[in-house]
Amino acid sequence: MSSLLTVLTTFAALLTPSLSSLTVSPRPPMGFNNWARFMCNLNESLFVETANAMLKNGLHAAGYTAINLDDCWPLQSRSHSGELQWNSTLFPHGLPWLGDYLHARNFTFGIYTNAGKMTCGWYPSSQDNEETDAKTFARWGVDYVKVDGCHIELQNGRNYYQEFEYRYKLWHAVLSKLDRPMVFSQSAPAYFSPNFPSLDHPEKPQNDNYTDWYKTMQYIYRTGELARHSDDIKVWSTNPDNSFMPGGHWESILNNYDKQIRLSRFQQAAGCGFYNDPDFLIADFPDLTPEEKKSHFSLWSAFSAPLIISAWIPGMSDEEVAYLKNEEVIAVDQDALCQQATVVSQDAVFEVLSKSLENGDRLLAVLNKGEVEKSTVVPLKRLGIEPEGTYKVKDLWSKRTRTVETSVEVRLKRHETGIYRISVDKQTEVAPTGQIFNTFSMRCLTAHKRGARFEECKGGDEQVWLVRKKGIVRPLSATNQCLFLGGDDAVVVEKCDGRRTYHQWSYGVDGNLVSRYNGLCLEEGEGGEAVLRKCGVALNSQVLALPGGVELER
Ligand SMILES: *[C@@H]1O[C@H](CO)[C@@H](O)[C@H](O)[C@H]1NC(C)=O
Ligand SMILES: *[C@@H]1O[C@H](CO)[C@@H](O)[C@H](O)[C@H]1NC(C)=O
Ligand SMILES: *[C@@H]1O[C@H](CO)[C@@H](O)[C@H](O)[C@H]1NC(C)=O
Ligand SMILES: *[C@@H]1O[C@H](CO)[C@@H](O)[C@H](O)[C@H]1NC(C)=O
Repeated sequence: MSSLLTVLTTFAALLTPSLSSLTVSPRPPMGFNNWARFMCNLNESLFVETANAMLKNGLHAAGYTAINLDDCWPLQSRSHSGELQWNSTLFPHGLPWLGDYLHARNFTFGIYTNAGKMTCGWYPSSQDNEETDAKTFARWGVDYVKVDGCHIELQNGRNYYQEFEYRYKLWHAVLSKLDRPMVFSQSAPAYFSPNFPSLDHPEKPQNDNYTDWYKTMQYIYRTGELARHSDDIKVWSTNPDNSFMPGGHWESILNNYDKQIRLSRFQQAAGCGFYNDPDFLIADFPDLTPEEKKSHFSLWSAFSAPLIISAWIPGMSDEEVAYLKNEEVIAVDQDALCQQATVVSQDAVFEVLSKSLENGDRLLAVLNKGEVEKSTVVPLKRLGIEPEGTYKVKDLWSKRTRTVETSVEVRLKRHETGIYRISVDKQTEVAPTGQIFNTFSMRCLTAHKRGARFEECKGGDEQVWLVRKKGIVRPLSATNQCLFLGGDDAVVVEKCDGRRTYHQWSYGVDGNLVSRYNGLCLEEGEGGEAVLRKCGVALNSQVLALPGGVELER
């Protein structure tokens, strides 16, 4: 009881961002997890052989140093003293031995548990045993713990949302007290995400209210290092549970991409130490083409997302190993700003992303999601660069550098992603530039003569916005104009000097774009009109994604 009280008193500390996260994981984790490839078919030799292969094939040297177990490692019962135990048929030398084996080879050792009563695979898990289990893991030499969210029992009158919040904050408090720092990978948001088919509530229809998802993210980005924010990547084809999600593995990758782009503000606000996690790299899955696999890796790197491979690494081809070792793409993932690239534009064929890099360079990533090879031209203005002179553009796959003046032309195969570094003088000011979109409807704020509306994203200049310091928001189609208040709650786009508060906006992790003049929130009205309304709590109609993340302080 007294230890529970200590835990509860540390809750006050949760109101400020976790200062320890930067030291726990100063860059997005890279490594291996068994789940998507092997699910419950895990054992000691799988991890030992994987680690040995990663040392031999250079993945370890390239930075992939986390070896993480997923579900199904425990025995069905706890020990006499109430501790989790490993299944010694699967792990004959025991988990502390495995931890030592990995540490001796400069890997970290990660484990899986679950916030509810039983794991997703029905093994004992940690609800009401958080402190015991954390201490057990520390004793075993664990460096990284993934806490899933299956089979949560509601206690003390808390509802589903509140029980998750209680449990993950409790885990944060427990882990913060340990002498051994552990990366805390949190699956809570996935259980409130747009289309997660809940194991506890199979009758639950597709989620059409994102409020609890947004609210969960609002505490999760401060309680741990990773947010497993939405669906799992679809698992290996021969597994019967593969039918869990419609579509193939490429559709699954795009599904997770589509959730990730809605959440950039959290990673941007946290800075290094917290990462949105769109799940595993499935590098040896046979239904993915080489372009699709490299796209997956390029997009995740543009996001500075965790790069955790789920594959039979000892059996991977030289080509598969080689693309995962692309140093320059890894450097984008591990960049010292830890920024998640945000959306410049989306249309029926291309997804264009951009972010700043530590040395001042601008990153450009372009995905051709269409079914045929195609070219597109990305003006530098869309990347927040006011072109002046020439710029070097390096293709991080072909390694070729070219010189451009005003735009970058890219030609991409079906499902290919081009990823480029644009050299920009560190002194040059780069304005965050790109789509402003409603992360529920996925419709884009569109500038019209005088007005603004939410419309289908088509990638035109009237849907690309420059977000300047002091909260001035200008459409690229008319950069002497800006978004400001009209009469009667309407939002207009007109010529402005930006010096008045009615030209100025603020934006934070709540996702609301708030007028500095009257404190009202920009909202997508019923018919798509952009209007100003009283701010609610994480409403479908008011939560927006902005280029560059959280730039406009409150
Ligand atoms: C360990 O697991 C791997 C992957 O599922 C499997 O191929 C192998 O046969 C297992 N080894 C033992 C000794 O059970
Ligand atoms: C340990 O794992 C083996 C192999 O999956 C399984 O057959 C056995 O039932 C497990 N033992 C216990 C006690 O759960
Ligand atoms: C592990 O790290 C130590 C210290 O940096 C180094 O001396 C050793 O060679 C490394 N071992 C491997 C297998 O990388
Ligand atoms: C959405 O969910 C929130 C939190 O559970 C709830 O307060 C709100 O009333 C819901 N909104 C609608 C329109 O159902």
